[in-house]
Amino acid sequence: MGCSRIVTNFAYGENMNHKKNVADIIGMKKKGDKITMLTAYDASFAHMLEQSGVDMILVGDSLGMVVLGYDSTVPVTMADMLHHSKAVRRGASQTLVVGDMPFLSYQVSIDQAIANAGRFMKEAGCDAVKLEGGQDMVGTVKAIVTAGIPVMGHIGLTPQTAGQLGGYKVQGKDVESARKLLADARSLDDAGAFAVVLECIPDKLAQVISEEISVPTIGIGAGSGCDGQVLVTHDLLGMSGKFIPSFVKCYTQLAPQIKASLDNFQDDVRSGNYPDAEHSFSMKYEVEEVLGRSSE
Ligand code: KIV
Repeated sequence: MGCSRIVTNFAYGENMNHKKNVADIIGMKKKGDKITMLTAYDASFAHMLEQSGVDMILVGDSLGMVVLGYDSTVPVTMADMLHHSKAVRRGASQTLVVGDMPFLSYQVSIDQAIANAGRFMKEAGCDAVKLEGGQDMVGTVKAIVTAGIPVMGHIGLTPQTAGQLGGYKVQGKDVESARKLLADARSLDDAGAFAVVLECIPDKLAQVISEEISVPTIGIGAGSGCDGQVLVTHDLLGMSGKFIPSFVKCYTQLAPQIKASLDNFQDDVRSGNYPDAEHSFSMKYEVEEVLGRSSE
């Protein structure tokens, strides 16, 4: 099957899966079923993730680094997130989509946090939002949940405030910081979060947190004791040209394959091998003849 055929058959909105809701995700923890979440920023990747049956798609603010070319997530705006969340929704109509609230879209005031969380649902069609922070964010999480918007928490290494944490480092390594993370997780659970991302913390601490709280933990660099796992899709596919954290398992290396294809295209064009007859449109001989005559 040629590439063009694959593209022609690409239909957004195919009903591949039962669309999970946040209650299903919580139920998976109760049943002991591991939860999968992956990032997407556009319709084509979202569609592939949906076809693969992933439980949740996160429109992460990692968008800033993976797609927009920034060095951190800090410059990412609500407009950026909504634009890409809408595309993901179009590509994956039957998957639970979580929109990541960008830096300063939820910290300034609780009213603004509710309004911005609402935009992810009303304008982009997201099913839930994610925000970073623990005990300091309890009031905000409660208010957003009370407004009817499911919230996923995110603690440990929180990239939006990585500067305050001493950079992109493993968190919760000493007794004090480990206790604080456990308290953060408990307070998010009490505040009504439906799941909590644990990023870059020791595996034993993640296991304790996972056993202590009622809602699922979704780990990234947090070991196998979590209730689910999330990765940046471009990292696991070997597409990120830049630094890849040591906890990422690369399931393939697409970057070299993509480069080889781009090189081959250019070689073909320059040598006249592309387009050949197979990739060109022919016309009826009679028309060709008339044209040939008229151009004489
Ligand atoms: O922005 C993101 O992609 C994330 C995850 C990797 C958890 O927050």
